[in-house]
Amino acid sequence: MELAKAKDYDEMSMKAAEVVFDKITGSDRLVLGLATGSTPEKMYEYLADKLNKSNVDLSHVYTVNLDEYVGLSPEDTQSYHYYMREIFFDKVNIPLENTKLPDGAAADLDAETSAYDAMIEDLGGVDLQVLGIGRNAHIAFNEPGTSFESGTHVVDLTETTIQDNARFFEKTEDVPTKAVSMGLGTIMNAKSILLLASGEGKKQALRNMIHGEITEDVPASILQRHPDVTVITDIEDIEL
Ligand code: F6R
Repeated sequence: MELAKAKDYDEMSMKAAEVVFDKITGSDRLVLGLATGSTPEKMYEYLADKLNKSNVDLSHVYTVNLDEYVGLSPEDTQSYHYYMREIFFDKVNIPLENTKLPDGAAADLDAETSAYDAMIEDLGGVDLQVLGIGRNAHIAFNEPGTSFESGTHVVDLTETTIQDNARFFEKTEDVPTKAVSMGLGTIMNAKSILLLASGEGKKQALRNMIHGEITEDVPASILQRHPDVTVITDIEDIEL
């Protein structure tokens, strides 16, 4: 595991954008795993800016997102489909057909989850997976207790995650209680991983992830077993 410290959220975002930019411009074909949430927002802003300033053609880039809420259609403004278009896809010249997210509105969610894993496999697997981390150390929506071997699956969100995500909704009751999420097994198959963590609220989760016991109670602790993980954080007092 490698650790890069940043002095604040802005610097963390810029460093992360540089890592992803270098990967995009240094590859003939790239499968990029993407995360949503507050943490990567500014990274997308910097990345879009850098790509546009350098006129980078993105037709060789395929993206697969980590998760989507169950019950929200891609047009729903609270959906992760919408977030990704607003924050990144519509700002760069990536062909929309190269961008994949789980369909949380699928009638048959079991079929959707296995199709999502098959699609990732058909693409040849994820080259670089961007991750955030939840206060309970979830990655994607793999809540504590999720099997380390899990593939894409339907998740019951925990109360902590629902409360944390309520800030994006008008009322807490509006936060979906289920999501489709890549599994921990799916994430571990990525060739390299870039995890971003910002703010004191994530300190304990990050410490447990780096130094704690590798246990399904701390989903992100599985990353200790991954051969190529880079963490970029603005949190003080985090060491390897
Ligand atoms: C988002 C995702 C989640 C978030 C995590 C942190 O696609 O998979 O694991 O990365 O919940 O969210 P923020 O960044 O909003 O603190």
